[in-house]
Amino acid sequence: MSKISRRGFLFGGAAATGALVSASAGAAVGASLGAEAATEAANKANLTAVLKRRERFFGQHQNGIETELQTFTNFVAFDLKPETDAAAAARWFKLITDDIARLSVGEAPLADPTPQLAMGPARFTATLAVGPGFFDKLGLADKKPTGFEQLPAFNVDQLREEYSYGDVLLHISADDPIILSHGVRSLVRDSVGFAKVRYSQQGFSNAQGVVPGGVRQRNLMGQVDGTDNPEIGSSDFNNIVWVENGPDWLIGGTFLVFRRIAMQLGTWDALGRTDKELVIGRNLQNGAPLGKQNENDPIDFDAVDANGLKLIPEFAHIRRAHATNPTERIFRRPFNYEVGVTPDGEPDVGLLWTAYQRDISTQFLPIQKRLDQLDLLNKWTVPIGSAVWAVLPGVEQSANGDYLGKKLFQ
Ligand code: HEM
Repeated sequence: MSKISRRGFLFGGAAATGALVSASAGAAVGASLGAEAATEAANKANLTAVLKRRERFFGQHQNGIETELQTFTNFVAFDLKPETDAAAAARWFKLITDDIARLSVGEAPLADPTPQLAMGPARFTATLAVGPGFFDKLGLADKKPTGFEQLPAFNVDQLREEYSYGDVLLHISADDPIILSHGVRSLVRDSVGFAKVRYSQQGFSNAQGVVPGGVRQRNLMGQVDGTDNPEIGSSDFNNIVWVENGPDWLIGGTFLVFRRIAMQLGTWDALGRTDKELVIGRNLQNGAPLGKQNENDPIDFDAVDANGLKLIPEFAHIRRAHATNPTERIFRRPFNYEVGVTPDGEPDVGLLWTAYQRDISTQFLPIQKRLDQLDLLNKWTVPIGSAVWAVLPGVEQSANGDYLGKKLFQ
């Protein structure tokens, strides 16, 4: 069949359907929609274990933070359009809230052109946050948290605009890459009327079932990453992460420091195993601190070998990063990224590194300043992207007409 006659056939078909609908007063269409819904319900009942798993959306805090790592992730940042004012931004956030609530239970958002891709929740989460420019551009300077600005420059930085900053962040994750893609597409579709996409940075962790739950994964240098972290669901976690005092629109939210950190694997791979372990201060195979047996054994920074040398050297990453006081702690939720291989064979890989905390100035900053001065890991890692975000609190299902960020606009 030629293209033209095929088009003719399709148009003819559409016209005939129109005639049928008006002639039979929609009875046939109603019946077929009912059958479709029944098939859809039956399909959902047969979801596989990975598809079926669901993360709650409603609650005091947004999801996607105190959440075991999903396998796939995308950090999508937006720049507000000049014509978007606070009232428009409020409409946008309302729309997004409804979309995320649906996607989190595996439903298609309203007016979805491809509802077939809403195959199930697969632990979908989308977390909404705002950057410093959001307040300045929307005339909300009085709502801006004190000192909420992009990070100061560090010696190790080689930041690139295309991986950095932004006014609004949607951090979207799922255990299935097609479900993630569908979620990103849906949320971006409902956002582009208000803002332009500044970047989308994709990452991944281990597949489900490969490592025990939690926020630990193997990063691409081979290390077990995410061990020394406050435990999900603990009061320790609450105290480190969720904002308790601050602007009322932020209570129950948190601050996120996002860093895209490139790894130079060519030279890293030339190191022997012992040297690699000394750089971090942990065993490569099981993540145990040097001198200990198991990953979760307490670190002994004073332990020495037969020659009196520290088992965990002065330059080791965990020694430099370890909190010097109880308030100087962060929650890390690291994902890997890989965007191919350079022509001379160097993989373009690294971490989409995240730190969540109540206060960037007393938690992330002192740690990063120490690492900037001395951390042997800096020889093989380069921060090339950076952003700070105020993550909005959650939405309570019971509260009438609530949506993400509502208090910001009141
Ligand atoms: C590509 C860059 C990085 C890599 C590959 C990396 C890797 C690691 C690894 C393997 C550990 C030990 C296991 C664990 O506890 O998770 C660790 C611990 C840690 N890292 Fe990093 N890291 C990177 C960047 C950073 C940055 C930028 C910071 C903060 C500014 C940081 C802060 C920490 C902290 C606080 C710990 C726990 C230290 C402790 O045991 O008390 N890391 N990192």
